[in-house]
Amino acid sequence: MNLAQKITDLKKEKNAIILAHYYQVPEIQEVADYVGDSLGLSQKAAETDAEIIVFAGVHFMAETAKILNPTKKVLLPDLMAGCSLADSCSPDSFKKLVEAYPNHMVITYVNCSAGVKALSDIICTSSNAEKIVNSVPKHVPIIFAPDKNLGNYIQKKTGRQMLLWDGACIVHEAFSIDKLLKLYKEHPGSKIIAHPESESHILETATYIGSTAGMIDYVKKHHSEKFIVATEAGILHKMQKEVPHTILIPAPAVEDNTCACSECAFMKMNTLQKLYNCLLNETPQIEVSEEIRKKAILPIERMLELSK
Ligand code: 13P
Ligand code: SF4
Repeated sequence: MNLAQKITDLKKEKNAIILAHYYQVPEIQEVADYVGDSLGLSQKAAETDAEIIVFAGVHFMAETAKILNPTKKVLLPDLMAGCSLADSCSPDSFKKLVEAYPNHMVITYVNCSAGVKALSDIICTSSNAEKIVNSVPKHVPIIFAPDKNLGNYIQKKTGRQMLLWDGACIVHEAFSIDKLLKLYKEHPGSKIIAHPESESHILETATYIGSTAGMIDYVKKHHSEKFIVATEAGILHKMQKEVPHTILIPAPAVEDNTCACSECAFMKMNTLQKLYNCLLNETPQIEVSEEIRKKAILPIERMLELSK
């Protein structure tokens, strides 16, 4: 029996659900019960009645699922699957900022640790950040963390000045504007679409800016012979399935990047074998202290409520 079939059987036997992000390797996406963006994955985690959640994504995603499901087992195939954004913002240093600006509303991108969520007023993802920021009365000042690129983009969209944390995604910051413009010239008539974690000079070239789910939706609804896709290359698997006759070209990264396109080394730590092992052995599990969880769930629930 192949590994994918073994995972499917084990999943049924144990009443487990596999939630996967679009940046996971294709073979993981194929065995998942749901593949989505950060918001969709949080919504699925909040509503599942499975006893075990296997999160094929990175640590902060699995942690969010655990915060929402304290009595369930939440498994992550590789506990080292982190995120440069989450790592840029430690709870201790973030606490100092929040305490220095007590009159500010704290909006935090979901790519952060449970400890940082516990210090926040509302969580957002790239698909609802504009809506969440607009939900705050105009006279209330905002701290936005940890992604400065998403924060900058939302500032422009909403006209709100926010106090930005200086964090960034190493994958989206690796795109080369010179190579992108060269590629665009080589493919006349193509359209550039980009994730808002990218830097502003990349976003300025894009005809569409949105979350991973938003980008997939856009290519489905807006015909073009070719799209240049500025986000992590794992998205191409699902996107190509949705538009099989469209040419999809991953946006190029700077010369010294490990791959020609942009791949998230953290996301790629999960493999089908590790997924099987973690479901079989029910480890590694995500744990969040009850003290942190009780605080961290409030801003997540606010986001879910505002996203209905
Ligand atoms: P979304 O899937 O919410 O667009 O987020 C992208 C990302 O970088 C997740 O780590
Ligand atoms: Fe974090 Fe960027 Fe990887 Fe997403 S792609 S998990 S934001 S490092």
